[in-house]
Amino acid sequence: MSKRAAILGAGYYAPEKVLTNKDIEKFLDTNDEWITSMTGMKERHLSEKGQPTSDLAVKAAENALKNSGVKKEEIDMVLVATVTGDYVWPSTANVVVNKLGINGVPSVDLSAACSGFLYGLTSARAFIESGIYKKILLIGAEEFTKVCDWTDRKTCVLFGDGAGAVVIGEAQNEEQGILSTYLGSDGSKVSYLMQPGGGTANPLSQEVLDKKMQFVYMEGKEVFKQAVIKMTASMEIAMEKAGVTAEQVDYFIFHQANKRIIDSIAQRFLVPEEKLIINIHKYANTSAATIPIALAEAMEEGKIKKGHLLGFSALGAGFTWGGAIVRI
Ligand code: ACO
Repeated sequence: MSKRAAILGAGYYAPEKVLTNKDIEKFLDTNDEWITSMTGMKERHLSEKGQPTSDLAVKAAENALKNSGVKKEEIDMVLVATVTGDYVWPSTANVVVNKLGINGVPSVDLSAACSGFLYGLTSARAFIESGIYKKILLIGAEEFTKVCDWTDRKTCVLFGDGAGAVVIGEAQNEEQGILSTYLGSDGSKVSYLMQPGGGTANPLSQEVLDKKMQFVYMEGKEVFKQAVIKMTASMEIAMEKAGVTAEQVDYFIFHQANKRIIDSIAQRFLVPEEKLIINIHKYANTSAATIPIALAEAMEEGKIKKGHLLGFSALGAGFTWGGAIVRI
């Protein structure tokens, strides 16, 4: 058998502090009924002030290593999918290798917003199947609550903090493995969803701060539309590439951005509710971390088991998008 990459184990971590819709009602002109019916979100986890993204990433990584039975010394690359890293630069992956005590191992961040985990999965797959590396730690970690304007009800209620991680290595049997991956992007729509200030287009200045350009900006309706179109198409292409049908897939994990987006995609493939892994009510949108958190949590609960066939798809700012079919 030629080399095939596989997910060997998964782990996750969410900060202890929980903010419910009811809590948000106390300081913002919104309500639990609106947030729940429009998004499916009930609560989200919030990182503390001195708790950067790398802290969440390391905890998720340690859990993924434990659950996959792989020692940290065996890891020969660390990839972190994030757009809310500790610093503008250097990379959060760089901080993570130090905190994990594995300095010397190559490390890099992938910036594809909410589809970052699928960009990471595809990259890790290529490194493993080409024989360049044997064991890769892929982490999706985000702290969007620190880049949201908490006076803007159209965006801040949607996000949460968290991290999910997987260990990727060579498949241990004929069935297991990443059966297909698919990625795409369209840069003509970057202005629909972005954090416009702080980069080289709009360097930090008093004007940038006054205009609140350091925070998330989103045209919700257009993002919603694109998410349904691109996540559906990505899932379809990934299934086609793997030669599987929706009926054969045991569970779908769609990027947890809005329960209504997930329901629309599921409807398209006639997927019943019990085949959907959904935890948006507990974590809200954790961007690049939603798929690995949902995967790790469902594996911990015993819902996703060895041998199960999984479908992933996501859309992120940019836009970027992707899909994958994986047998655990
Ligand atoms: N509470 C109460 N009312 C609200 C809130 C809120 N939190 N937010 C908006 N409203 C109001 C608006 O002010 C508006 O009122 P008006 O009609 O009096 O002006 C009304 O609700 C409708 O607002 P819209 O923004 O037009 O509502 P929409 O139907 O677009 O739903 C939502 C908003 C839920 C955000 C939706 O657009 C969405 O989910 N978009 C996709 C989000 C997404 O996927 N983002 C992540 C992408 S991934 C990444 O890369 C980060």
